[in-house]
Amino acid sequence: MSQQHPAEKTDPAPAAVTHPPADRDVATAGEPWPRQRGRGATPRVSRAVLITGCSSGIGHATALRLQAAGFAVYATARRPESLTELAAAGITTARLDVCDEQSMTAVVGQITDEHGAVGILVNNAGFELAGPVEEVPLAEARRQFETNLFGLARLTQLVIPAMREAGGGRIINLSSVFGRFAVPGNAYYAASKHAVAGFTDALRLELAAFGIRVVLIEPSAARTRLNANTTWAASRSAGPYADFHTQLADWHARTFAGPPHNIAGRLAVTADQVAAAITNAATTRRPRARYPVGILARGLFLLRRWLPAPAFDAFLRTQFPAPQQTLTPARRAAHP
Ligand SMILES: NC(=O)c1ccc[n+]([C@@H]2O[C@H](COP(=O)([O-])OP(=O)(O)OC[C@H]3O[C@@H](n4cnc5c(N)ncnc54)[C@H](OP(=O)(O)O)[C@@H]3O)[C@@H](O)[C@H]2O)c1
Repeated sequence: MSQQHPAEKTDPAPAAVTHPPADRDVATAGEPWPRQRGRGATPRVSRAVLITGCSSGIGHATALRLQAAGFAVYATARRPESLTELAAAGITTARLDVCDEQSMTAVVGQITDEHGAVGILVNNAGFELAGPVEEVPLAEARRQFETNLFGLARLTQLVIPAMREAGGGRIINLSSVFGRFAVPGNAYYAASKHAVAGFTDALRLELAAFGIRVVLIEPSAARTRLNANTTWAASRSAGPYADFHTQLADWHARTFAGPPHNIAGRLAVTADQVAAAITNAATTRRPRARYPVGILARGLFLLRRWLPAPAFDAFLRTQFPAPQQTLTPARRAAHP
């Protein structure tokens, strides 16, 4: 196959990619997978999978599942040392930061050289920015979008040409339940995931004619390192949101750390459950547009659909902390 596109011919920087010691894979390059419906000859789609954010959580679990399913997995992360466990399992690892153009072109170039194209892209890398809108510096908000949306978008641009020439492929994007609604303290994370959802909906329609399937994964709370990696951008000790900050941090701890103490924590899914949904989306003949993951995600989406907005807001207020006005004696006198 010669699906190489000029965009992938930039210096592939071989040092960026660490191969497993064994003589695995590569022989599978060019096998038809999975059979795509379309006009003309049966396309031959690459079995190479590129996953971002594999240092922990969902990306790590997905790399293991897709390797077990027989794909040639390229597991990537910002810090190569965080990938040693996956490398020991025989998975090809590479450094890739979705905010670093050179690292993305290097890895895509390498895969294109070895397999003709990326067959499946799993846009998993992301982080959560927490804090009330009034206090979050816009520089932090922009960083949230650089990673969660524009990093995903750029990597998608890089893989499309060879996928299109190969006649098929899959792009699987990680959104969240917060891609369909939002709660106090997560405006920018939710906005970035809403943006990923809109981006994915448009992309699915744009690429359908080329045999490229585009899928959105929408997990509810998953017990990963997302909480530990959360960037907190708010005043912890003073100001109108100090109490809210404490309550929000407490909500996160109850949900993600130790024994679960709230509904979101008790119904949280594991990284492997999300990885199973991604594997299903990667391998099924006709992937769905969206995969909610977890009973909580499905329940919340039903409520979101059927409840009027004021009733859904009231429900959210019973489940998530929100800032409260603390009245000084002077204000209390002015607003009895
Ligand atoms: N856990 C949940 O409750 C949940 C729910 C819904 C959706 N999600 C989404 O699922 C995805 C995976 O999250 P997770 O739960 O598995 O959390 P996680 O354990 O914190 O994993 C996030 C991964 O993204 C990586 N990452 C962050 N910024 C990056 C960048 N600029 N370039 C490359 N990699 C970067 C992290 O790498 P470092 O180790 O270098 O920081 C880490 O490997 C995220 O998109 C998240 O928004 C998570």
